[in-house]
Amino acid sequence: MSKKIEEIKTILKKYGQEHLLNHYETLEERQKKELIEQIENINFELINTLYQKTKKEVKTQKDVITPIEYLDKSKLYDDYKHYENIGKKAIIAKKLAAVTMAGGQGTRLGHKGPKGTYDIGLDSHKSLFELLCDNLKAEGKKYGVTIPWFIMTSRENNKATTEFFEKNKYFGYQKDKNIFFFIQGELPMIDTEGKILIGEDGLIKLAADGHGGIYESLVKSGMTQKMKQMGIEWVFIGGVDNCLVKMVDPVLMGIAIEKEVTVACKSAVKANPQEKVGVFCRRNGKPNVIEYSEITEEMAKKTDENGELLYGEAHLLCNLFSVSAVERMGANPLPYHIAYKKATYLDKNGKRIKPDTPNAYKFEAFLFDAFGEVDDMAILRVKREEEFAPVKNADEAGVDCPKTARELYKKFYHLN
Ligand code: UD1
Repeated sequence: MSKKIEEIKTILKKYGQEHLLNHYETLEERQKKELIEQIENINFELINTLYQKTKKEVKTQKDVITPIEYLDKSKLYDDYKHYENIGKKAIIAKKLAAVTMAGGQGTRLGHKGPKGTYDIGLDSHKSLFELLCDNLKAEGKKYGVTIPWFIMTSRENNKATTEFFEKNKYFGYQKDKNIFFFIQGELPMIDTEGKILIGEDGLIKLAADGHGGIYESLVKSGMTQKMKQMGIEWVFIGGVDNCLVKMVDPVLMGIAIEKEVTVACKSAVKANPQEKVGVFCRRNGKPNVIEYSEITEEMAKKTDENGELLYGEAHLLCNLFSVSAVERMGANPLPYHIAYKKATYLDKNGKRIKPDTPNAYKFEAFLFDAFGEVDDMAILRVKREEEFAPVKNADEAGVDCPKTARELYKKFYHLN
């Protein structure tokens, strides 16, 4: 071990991160081992690059943003059946799997635990996970198949998530046969001097690297390999927080297959210019999403000749990919977005510091930044009341909260 420690010290010195071993001697054997493993897994060059990025002024976007074309599901007329038939065949041939991104906690909802375990307050008291699974089961039944379900957890919530599924007997699914869990990636948090933080447990302070890490995680965890062995060619990737998500959509699949695109996404008309959703666009000619935090007010309000918002196709986080596209995307690193957050840490004297203001950088990649990698993709506008009931905020916020989601869910399923 001591040889290893010496090697590690050399690396840490090279990158100015020697403080990571400050409390090493006070740790228990198990923690010592874990810390060493963590350090060995850090890509210090990447951390350096990311730190340099935090110091650069945000450059005014030179990208050329233009609107993107889409198909409207309610106006496909004769083509509807055509696409549907193509998609149905592929579903019956077991070529589709669903992936749910469930790395988040329900903190904003005041819920202690994985967001997917949250009960939105229906009479059935079903969790988000169960509502999603109900839909998968109903769709699978229609086509005489079981749609394999892959669930992305995070280190923080993996144990609680898998225990929840175990307790609920996987809602009728079978572990390792048609339900699989994999853990998303993480990156260390750094302070304003570029120093990696040590968390309260004496270990590296890690934070989820955003859902853009999903491609790499799917590949590294062996999930794409498993999919191919199972004959799966398409994966629907969606968030855990939309209780009306329709993960099995033959029309969407039929469009992707017929148009020979490797990515097909669903959109809905943006409710108003201020709505907190990303919108589809072309960035320098390539398909992309402008996030709500990034769009200018002017651009958000711009309308076309019919009075519709020019950037009005909301990104629902309902995206279908070919498995080969996921593999390609997993091989190319995505850019990281920087968030400045409050993070409790141990200072160099081992004292616990709980800041009142942001003190640390967190790095996240966004899934849609990979869209630029594909030559083209299809966008299908769907009816929001049929497919989009997100649970993001506590009820006080009045939007995208348990109350609004519950009402939309009840209306769609004709519940009282
Ligand atoms: C997201 C989209 C936005 C879209 C909106 C639709 C981003 C950056 N933006 O916004 O374009 O219009 O949803 O509802 O995603 N997740 C993980 N691991 C992570 C981060 C997120 O699994 O590291 C999962 C969450 O559990 C959730 C989903 O990704 O299921 C969305 O994440 P969230 O951060 O809530 O995104 P929004 O800001 O709501």
